[in-house]
Amino acid sequence: MRSRMRNRLGPLWHGSTSTLVLALETTLLAGTASAGVPEQVTNIFKPLSTPAELISEVAWLALAVCAGIFLVVGGLLAYTTVRFRRRAQDDGAEPPQIYGSNQLELAWTVIPILIVLVLVLVTARTIADVQNRPAPPDALHVTVVGHQRWWEGRYPALGLVTANELHVPVSTASRRQLTFLRLESADVAHSFWVPQLAGKTDLIPNRVNRMWIEPKQVGTSLGNCAEYCGTQHARMLLRVIVHEPDDFARWVAAQQQPAVAEAQVHAGRDVFFTTSCVNCHTISGTTAQGTFGPDLTHLMSRDTLAAGTAPNTPDALRAWVRDPQTLKEGALMPNMQLSETELDQIVAYLLTLK
Ligand code: CUA
Repeated sequence: MRSRMRNRLGPLWHGSTSTLVLALETTLLAGTASAGVPEQVTNIFKPLSTPAELISEVAWLALAVCAGIFLVVGGLLAYTTVRFRRRAQDDGAEPPQIYGSNQLELAWTVIPILIVLVLVLVTARTIADVQNRPAPPDALHVTVVGHQRWWEGRYPALGLVTANELHVPVSTASRRQLTFLRLESADVAHSFWVPQLAGKTDLIPNRVNRMWIEPKQVGTSLGNCAEYCGTQHARMLLRVIVHEPDDFARWVAAQQQPAVAEAQVHAGRDVFFTTSCVNCHTISGTTAQGTFGPDLTHLMSRDTLAAGTAPNTPDALRAWVRDPQTLKEGALMPNMQLSETELDQIVAYLLTLK
């Protein structure tokens, strides 16, 4: 997808850092992950959640109004161009010059004002509708924290923490289920954007923003950070995985388990606990309680590594631990300079964190 678009954009792609191209790339990357991760295209015209549906309605209205204006203006322009074109028998005299027409001037002032007024009112109503929605008592509450450059998802009521993917229950007509998000930042400004679920909302240091989603279809929706937050901002991808209620309960129960300590991987465990890994990562039920990097308690339950940079396979995991910079240059995880043996051991240990 990306290479296809790159070809189509041609010279625009190369060297240009115009907002348009950046916006295009960001939008496209929202629908694609990096090498090896199956491509999923995010379709902004197919909203899957209430706020996205409401926004989509406004967008279609604005598009329809603009299309109408385009047809009227374009049609009149085409008509006059053809009707009053230069003809062979023209005598070359100027046509009558007319100045001032109250009717015309009123029309082209009042009609646009009315159009803009309608769009403003409809947009304001939708914004108020989305922002003022109170959380129902059975809503799921998730705190999303933006980090350079990954997402942390905390479920305070459920006592679990995840990274780079949010799992939420589906909402059905018989059982509506809203998920309310509390958005925070650990460092710089980020922006939460999963186009098929809701509009963008920024995550700003020392401030709490809120939004909500109501996904109506089981499956995975892709999103990404939509506010430039430094090198590798483009690799700050997010997956929202929507489950049937039973499935969601199973996921919660599995995530609530502490990490299992398997005897045969004690060597890798020792490497992990005697290097700086523990300063940045948490593995529940152990002394590793760092919060700078993602919680690794259930690392292997996730689809991707490094916020969507690579699929979560043993090979990619090994490459990542060996030197994160080769996969994601500028990542804040350092190269730990482990030997090949230590790498094998630590990866064997990490693979048990299911
Ligand atoms: Cu986080 Cu861009």
